[in-house]
Amino acid sequence: MKTYIVGNWKLNFTVGEASIYLHKILKTLPNYRDVDVVVAPSLIALQPLSLQIDRHKVKLAAQNAFYRDYGAFTGEVSFSQLRGLVDYAIIGHSERRYILREDDKMVAKKVAAAIRNRITPILCIGETESERAFGETADVIRDQLIGGLSEVADDDLDNVIIAYEPVWAISSSKSAKIATPDEVAEVVKLIRKVIADTYGKDLAEKVPVLFGGSVNTSNAGAYLTVPGVNGLLIGGASLILSEFVDIIETAKRVRS
Ligand code: PGA
Repeated sequence: MKTYIVGNWKLNFTVGEASIYLHKILKTLPNYRDVDVVVAPSLIALQPLSLQIDRHKVKLAAQNAFYRDYGAFTGEVSFSQLRGLVDYAIIGHSERRYILREDDKMVAKKVAAAIRNRITPILCIGETESERAFGETADVIRDQLIGGLSEVADDDLDNVIIAYEPVWAISSSKSAKIATPDEVAEVVKLIRKVIADTYGKDLAEKVPVLFGGSVNTSNAGAYLTVPGVNGLLIGGASLILSEFVDIIETAKRVRS
């Protein structure tokens, strides 16, 4: 299976800075066929970057979009407007769930809208620190997974990527901790079990599952060798070109 290395730039970089970064990464990276390198800049940068990109080397993801295709939704950008510009969209990131109050219903509509517009959703799920402390991790993972996929037709499920991002491990969270490879392995196993129980074994084996949360150059190799992990979703470290490239090269090394 392919390996996915996804850089989530969040609310960083002007359009000019994003373009310079992309220029440098395209110059630096060879074409690694079995590693899909993806960057997710601000919405405003997607259109110009789509003209600059070499999709054999790097693909674009949206960090968000709206679930209706058009209409009276002031300030929104739809997946249909992004169709053709991006290959992926990050959906249900914990910053959107907890800062912008997106619930599983909205996440589900966005996942369906992405698929409808031929954009592969990267559905983010993960428990908070207190949910873990209260022993609720399995329930949260099950609810967010089944909730987030609830509007996807069975035939389309193999167009979905899942990203496990424990909220307590994301570098921007107040007291971020580093998840151990064993902790990641346990939840990734659970994710595949929930998918197997709900949608069947075939899909559970096929669906790519990424890990995200304080991934950096020194721990990327360990996460990439966790059984069942097919790639990484990287925030902070993806903003530093040398670190991002180092992680991509680690992926190439440990997974080929
Ligand atoms: P981080 O962010 O790598 O900075 O922890 C990951 C994410 O929020 O997707």
